[in-house]
Amino acid sequence: MRYAQLSAFAADEPDRFWVEVADKLAWTKRWDKVLGDGQGPIPRWFIGGELNACHNCVDRHVDDGFGDQVAIQYESAVTQISRSLTFAELKDATARLGGAMRARGVAKGDRIIIYMPNSPEAVIAMLACARIGAIHSVVFGGFAAKELAARIDDATPKLVIAASCGIEGAKVLPYQPMLEEAYAIADHRIEATIYWQREQAPADIGKTDAVDWADEIANAEPAPCEPVKATDPLYILYTSGTTGQPKGIVRDTGGYLAALAWTMEGIYNCPPGSTYWAASDVGWVVGHSYIVYGPLLNRNTTVVFEGKPVGTPDAGIFWSIMAKHKVRSFFTAPTAIRAIKQVDPEGALAAGHDLSSLKAVYLAGERTDPSTLEWTEKLLSKPVVDHWWQTETGWAICANPLGVEELPTKAGSTSVPMPGWDIACLDEDGVPVAANETGAIVARLPLPPGAAPTLWKAEERYVEAYLERYVGYYLSGDAGYIDEDGFVYVMTRTDDVINVAGHRLSSSAIEEVLAANPSVAECAVVGIHDDLKGQIPAGFVVLKAGEQSDSGLLQQQLVLDVRTAIGPVAAFKQVHIVSKLPKTRSGKILRRNIRQIADREEATIPATIEDRAVLEEYYKLFEYESGAV
Ligand code: COA
Ligand code: AMP
Repeated sequence: MRYAQLSAFAADEPDRFWVEVADKLAWTKRWDKVLGDGQGPIPRWFIGGELNACHNCVDRHVDDGFGDQVAIQYESAVTQISRSLTFAELKDATARLGGAMRARGVAKGDRIIIYMPNSPEAVIAMLACARIGAIHSVVFGGFAAKELAARIDDATPKLVIAASCGIEGAKVLPYQPMLEEAYAIADHRIEATIYWQREQAPADIGKTDAVDWADEIANAEPAPCEPVKATDPLYILYTSGTTGQPKGIVRDTGGYLAALAWTMEGIYNCPPGSTYWAASDVGWVVGHSYIVYGPLLNRNTTVVFEGKPVGTPDAGIFWSIMAKHKVRSFFTAPTAIRAIKQVDPEGALAAGHDLSSLKAVYLAGERTDPSTLEWTEKLLSKPVVDHWWQTETGWAICANPLGVEELPTKAGSTSVPMPGWDIACLDEDGVPVAANETGAIVARLPLPPGAAPTLWKAEERYVEAYLERYVGYYLSGDAGYIDEDGFVYVMTRTDDVINVAGHRLSSSAIEEVLAANPSVAECAVVGIHDDLKGQIPAGFVVLKAGEQSDSGLLQQQLVLDVRTAIGPVAAFKQVHIVSKLPKTRSGKILRRNIRQIADREEATIPATIEDRAVLEEYYKLFEYESGAV
């Protein structure tokens, strides 16, 4: 079937379309209803069905005779360790860790926080949770103790599984002090922390609740796969919203696995047995879907890479790993390609590597600027797919479905909606805009399988954030346009979320930190253009009367405060002291105008601005005159 037919099939007969996909999974109980209401704010998939994610990703392949196939290929550019794990070894490892957790009283539905860098152990920890029906919540290593504590209090985990350290380039970052600081801040008490010990900075096992992974699994009774309901959560993944409090995105089990199974063929064109590599991090949704669940479900070898695209050791690392392991599909963020391009503009380090196995490159996390797309296409002579998705959706909303049909590439566009996604661009009144006109991008309900059905313990917030603005639609929070051929262009966020190097950050969360400083009267944080990271946050701070900032000490302190409260991943390095913030007459801060001035775009100043003259200071700050763009 070609793309148009397939899309029509999924739209006209969603039940049949998704049942054909779900039938490829192993179910312990077939569903009673394919899609039904009454279980939360949006219709749910495969109601009444039961299955286990670890069984589908691991045991099933061993049972089918593929136990000796490599499941995980670990490449650590920071420790020079290259290690492979077969499906049989992965089954044993998940069964043992699952058994160790059960021995500690972890039961179906309990939450486990995982705080680990990219490593086979992180994948084992996630799958071991899935195996026993526990819900994992992976927290990215670049977040600080306070952010970790917020997630501990929200998810109320029984245990934490952690690495003893992360390694960022040449820096070794011990995790135990960070975890202990988080435990001291959090109200919720965890029962134990299981540390995967790394020789670079082992955790102190004698201390408080710390136990050693190796001791835990040594005599553990291997745990079987515990069937869960298709609608039971497989994981919670926190992401930034418009407030400082992160949103706990809930991912159900059955629909997610079905959707991923379709994407591995339909989008990534990756037959079982071939090698798939998502150079992301297990702390992000891309890591969940395409380092762990998608490829393993499809019996692909998944490459787990610990390192950076540049500097570990150089900008050729991606190409050398692709050649070494005959990677067929490769997924990364545009910012990683920009980093390589900056260091090696001619792509000289790709020369000499046999990339004949590589069929296509997939980019997501932020908009792919046309020059990055074209540079990559020219260097590799392979299709480069810019595809659009969110933590909420779990898989691509729009893509070029290479496994179905290769559609023409239009630079700047994320191609077309995937089967099950009915996408529209609406104006303020909810009326679809004409082709090529900008509007809010929405998806008509019901959402396809895999998309988040709710937020953890915050159903009302889900309704408010995604469903209330346009009745009958899911609000993506992105704005853009659809061209006359149905290609979707995702241009910007409509809320105060900033996208830094493919990572989503809340400007409100950073503002909360700045506002807590006793010298600060009020502040605004906006995401301004950065050639490498796409956007970086910049703070604009008004001081309380009588406060001075001449020496720059306050700016340094504010940068440090954000690093301590949110984490280095925020990449917050820029603070400007201003005399006033531009506001509307009702007091809303005009962050968009600040961003436009910083980015040298024409400022679209609303008629309701309180005082236009306030903006002059911002033009001066960025060293040009108003009207010069
Ligand atoms: N644990 C602890 N600290 C971390 C971390 C982790 N897991 N990940 C990042 N950090 C720290 C970094 O060390 C850096 O700290 P610094 O301020 O002391 O230098 C800071 O957070 C910012 O990190 P990062 O965004 O990675 O910037 P960078 O300058 O080190 O590297 C890139 C720039 C472009 C190479 C990097 O951002 C990158 O590889 N991006 C790809 C993004 C990606 O894969 N996104 C996933 C979505 S698909
Ligand atoms: P996250 O939930 O962290 O994956 O961030 C999702 C957000 O990243 C989306 O809402 C978009 O704003 C942005 N994004 C992701 N992929 C793309 C893309 N291909 N093009 C444009 N924006 C993207």
